[in-house]
Amino acid sequence: MRRQTLLTAANLLPLILSALLCLGTLLPAFADGKKVIPIETDNTQLVLLVEESGSLITVHYGPRVEDPTQFLDYSTHRANEHGCGPVTYPAIGSRYLIGQEALSVIYPDGYRNTELRYLSHEVRNLGERVLTRITLSDELTHLRVDLLYEAYPHEDVILTHSEITNGDRKDVTLMKYASCSMHVEGEQFLLSHFHGSWADEMQLEREVLGHGIVTIESRRGTQATQCNNPSFMVSINSDRLTEEYGEVLAGALCWSANYQITFERDETGRLNIISGINPFNSEYRLSPGKTFLTPDMVWTRSSNGAGGASRNLHAWARRWGVYGGGEVNPTLLNSWEGAYFSFTTPTLLRMIDDAADMGLEMFVLDDGWFGVEYPRNGDAAGLGDWVLNTKKIPEGIDYVASYAHAKGMKFGIWIEPEMVNPDSRLAHEHPDWVIQSPGREIPQSRNQWVLDLSNPQVQDFVYGVFDSVMKLSPHIDYVKWDCNRIMASVGSKYLGKEQNRLFVEYGQGLYSVLARIRRTYPDVLIQCCSSGGGRVDYGALRYCNEIWTSDNTDALCRSYIQYSTSLIYPACVMASHVSAVPNHQSGNVTPLKFRFDMACSGRLGMELQPRNLTAAEKEYAKRAISEYKTYRDLVFKGDLYRLASPYDGDHYALMYVSSDKSRAVVFVYCLKYENRETGGITLPLTGLDPKGRYSVKELGVDRSCWWGDGKTFQGDFLQGGGFNPRVRTQFASAVFYLEAR
Ligand code: GLA
Repeated sequence: MRRQTLLTAANLLPLILSALLCLGTLLPAFADGKKVIPIETDNTQLVLLVEESGSLITVHYGPRVEDPTQFLDYSTHRANEHGCGPVTYPAIGSRYLIGQEALSVIYPDGYRNTELRYLSHEVRNLGERVLTRITLSDELTHLRVDLLYEAYPHEDVILTHSEITNGDRKDVTLMKYASCSMHVEGEQFLLSHFHGSWADEMQLEREVLGHGIVTIESRRGTQATQCNNPSFMVSINSDRLTEEYGEVLAGALCWSANYQITFERDETGRLNIISGINPFNSEYRLSPGKTFLTPDMVWTRSSNGAGGASRNLHAWARRWGVYGGGEVNPTLLNSWEGAYFSFTTPTLLRMIDDAADMGLEMFVLDDGWFGVEYPRNGDAAGLGDWVLNTKKIPEGIDYVASYAHAKGMKFGIWIEPEMVNPDSRLAHEHPDWVIQSPGREIPQSRNQWVLDLSNPQVQDFVYGVFDSVMKLSPHIDYVKWDCNRIMASVGSKYLGKEQNRLFVEYGQGLYSVLARIRRTYPDVLIQCCSSGGGRVDYGALRYCNEIWTSDNTDALCRSYIQYSTSLIYPACVMASHVSAVPNHQSGNVTPLKFRFDMACSGRLGMELQPRNLTAAEKEYAKRAISEYKTYRDLVFKGDLYRLASPYDGDHYALMYVSSDKSRAVVFVYCLKYENRETGGITLPLTGLDPKGRYSVKELGVDRSCWWGDGKTFQGDFLQGGGFNPRVRTQFASAVFYLEAR
């Protein structure tokens, strides 16, 4: 995995080049004539064209064309010299001023014009990936930009980012330094993106793009994804987000700090997308010879609608994008909603007993186990003091962890290492580590402050928190890493006059700590949590096995959150817990079966006090957990087909199919009562072998809601509308298991 960091010695070739450029011994030799640079996957192709002028433009990203050299004489019918050409990495300069830029630089003489021309490119075959590096350079300022494209042929995914090198003898200031831009031709574009707030993340929003600019971004410093996720889908020539047909472009940025993605329909009607680190308050001084690496942007293009685009992203994520992505993670009981801050050892042991009894495979001790002088008995104290509270657990963490292990379970523990309560030893010892602006109030939220991860000492501390917690017991298998507030009164004592670096270096600092943790602890499972879904992005997922999708555990609300999350992120990362009713966030009361069926479509967990379950409920839980284990490999590794969207009707339905199409699991949920006359919902299943014969069995019930239960049907029948389970009253739900005969 590539680390997000400033490059110094790691990449010799660019440095040698820039050194030569500095010395003026090598003038960029712009290649004569046009050139086509295709970046290809099995079914898609991104075609870049070097024009005679040396400009690099994007002429195609879509279905694969057998002979891409046909693009050599391609005309956009647009006057590129008017500044509206599909410039692949548009920099402010020359005639390019009217469109959104990817790059904006201030040079030592104060001028701001950059003119990038093609210098060279190289293609490297990395086995199952192909890396294309295109080097652009400004003849006058010696600024160099390398555009890197990593094609994943089987997954139809292309990752791209830029590397910006200062080849001058003086510092330059990067005002905007996006990862990439993308240009899409079309008559109509529907943008689907995800807004939200705490306990209400990933709410799908769809808008047909008019002329002008739509921006999704975060300026929150931390918790970058809580209000807008750095990902989207664009339906091309359509005003609908269709599941299995239609041209869809999807993108996701691998960055956990401030980001910005702009969608501009320009005067020609074309859609230009610029994506990368948010330039907000983040101008970046780049010294001579230094290179700035921007985060990767993940792209996919599909002719099979949103479903096809999601499956591409999921396949890439499982194989390449998510830490441990190909693995099945354990079911668990998390202590938070069941015990909150009030527990002692017997509470935990009892919870472990109950969890083991129900067949769960891990116990996770959430917040509240630490703090001595400032015990963490509520959210007002203790953060920062990662020392066991022996009043609660006198026997030690290892005692509890060993108890879980003795029951055949794994053990996990919660930390929030980037944060500090004012009421903590840490806040008193290292007040300068807190994000703050001198002389001003340091605002609190959830009674806490943010530590300054741009400071290497703080990075060491945060690493040390993880390391010391892991040393509490050799039986810690899982760490839930939380991050519960955004930045405010932004400032860094460490950065002195370079406050502008804080947002960027916080993100880089976080990744450098996580990379270090992964070097030391490659096997521990890490859940990325940030007040729920505040850090749901492919940057964090390079280091983390899963995400806590939302603090909202209400199964009804989860249908909206999980549907949207599934558009971009695979089910294997989606932690989903059965909690108590009335739900602690929404107050909703839903049946236990509905709650289980919703949680079982992701990584199943429970988050309640099992003692409060009735014997019948416990029995039901046992059955649901044991059945989940029989098909969860499909949830973790299968291909997802969404069958009904909660945003468009009264049902939510989805299915996962094994890659050989021999097994599948179907989930159906009724979110709203329809009418008495309606028998149920007809769901044409998808992704099966039309000629295969499948037995269909409803799980978790003694009397099925479908007349065909227990029978065998041919795939074409099930896909053709024969599957119509009677799931019609609010919170009715069903899970069907299909197996080829
Ligand atoms: C955040 C998390 C919760 C829980 C609490 C503990 O809100 O999202 O899951 O861990 O913190 O304080």
